[in-house]
Amino acid sequence: MNSATLLLNGRDYELPVVVGTEDEIGIDVSALRAKTGAITLDGGYGNTGSCRSAITFIDGERGILRYRGYPIEEVAEHASFAEVCYLLIYGELPTAIELGRFEDALTRHSLIHEDMKKFFEGFPPSAHPMAILSAMVASLAAYYPQDLDEPDRDLNIVRLLSKVRTIAAFAYKKSIGQPFVYPRNDLSYTENFLHMMFAVPAEPYRVPAVLDRALNLLLILHADHEQNCSTSTVRMVGSSQANLFASISAGICALWGPLHGGANQKVIEMLEAIRADGGDYEKYVEKAKDKDSGFRLMGFGHRVYKNFDPRAQILKAAADEVLAEMGIADPLLAIAKNLEEVALSDPFFVERRLYPNVDFYSGILYRAMGIPTEMFTVMFALGRLPGWIAQWKEMIEDPKARISRPRQIYVGAAKRRFVSIEERERVLVHA
Ligand code: ACO
Repeated sequence: MNSATLLLNGRDYELPVVVGTEDEIGIDVSALRAKTGAITLDGGYGNTGSCRSAITFIDGERGILRYRGYPIEEVAEHASFAEVCYLLIYGELPTAIELGRFEDALTRHSLIHEDMKKFFEGFPPSAHPMAILSAMVASLAAYYPQDLDEPDRDLNIVRLLSKVRTIAAFAYKKSIGQPFVYPRNDLSYTENFLHMMFAVPAEPYRVPAVLDRALNLLLILHADHEQNCSTSTVRMVGSSQANLFASISAGICALWGPLHGGANQKVIEMLEAIRADGGDYEKYVEKAKDKDSGFRLMGFGHRVYKNFDPRAQILKAAADEVLAEMGIADPLLAIAKNLEEVALSDPFFVERRLYPNVDFYSGILYRAMGIPTEMFTVMFALGRLPGWIAQWKEMIEDPKARISRPRQIYVGAAKRRFVSIEERERVLVHA
């Protein structure tokens, strides 16, 4: 199949068909308007491919997720987060020498400009860390202005990956009134972040291996997810040739919403509310089924996954292991499992193919690791960063890339005469 026929107003139009590596079919409508005067209309973009991409493959019907062809289960078991960053951004798993160089660069660029520390002072203690993170990432453009040309592009990619940890940890320290802990060059990417989060100058702190492993896993599972809301935002902003930092900052803002990355915070708040309400999870399943309640089961449902979310399955098993190793019995884990069991056997959820998504169990792990609820979406952003960067880089390097500019079907008022304010007043007086 290499073309599709569209019958419009009695005329046939041939449209090219594009087939992906995994036999995904796309009808290329890029010449549709020029040929027919018509556009496609697809609110929420559920049927719209915005690009060709070689980074991540998802088959939502079969619960498949692959980074550059590698199944997420294998990547999660064998790779470090730094390796995954390299794989997503540069297309191949690194050799030992390449990985060593990359890790070294990530280590060496972890400090933020001392002046940026003053920015933190300007935020109120109650500031949501996503507000701080997005503002600080956009501010990096003021310090590293050139980024579209090689080698500045690669250098700024490494700077961003490295500094975002420092910014996130400083935002947390600011929120609890503790002094900032500077990065240390003898620690790995993930250990360094945990050290900046949990160490205090008054005493030595050794990062527990279980925390380091859990963080690696969480970051890897969030690292990319093809053209989701925040990634599409990064591409949309980057398509105007806005710089890397501005594009990523926009992605962070898109991630913040409760229907996207903000769901991980909402899941824990929901589980806590259920516990405070006596643990009656069945009541909340009923509430989620009642459309008038305005309540949804947070961490349930996905635009793409209609069978299971492989990331949620890995995290569910990891939550059991990590909590057992840390000797933590979190009542919220039991509530989450019960909620999942009831929901998965309820026809409302079965018919709509609503399954736990990545956010359903991630919060339980973050909690066990001592990360406060308000930081959960920041943790998601740290994980998603290499994916955003890889997608931005792929777009910038595509010679055919154009500015993203959707069309619309106008449904407002037809042309009408301007009415002066005096005339409008007269009409009101007489009405
Ligand atoms: N609880 C109850 N009902 C739900 C839920 C839910 N969590 N999710 C979807 N539904 C219902 C909808 O009411 C709708 O029912 P209808 O067909 O009778 O009208 C049907 O399932 C389809 O839902 P849509 O909102 O049309 O699905 P969409 O693909 O647009 O939205 C989304 C996907 C945003 C993830 C949605 O399932 C949701 O709001 N989930 C809760 C928030 C959440 O967990 N977000 C994280 C997503 S994963 C991520 O971004 C990392």
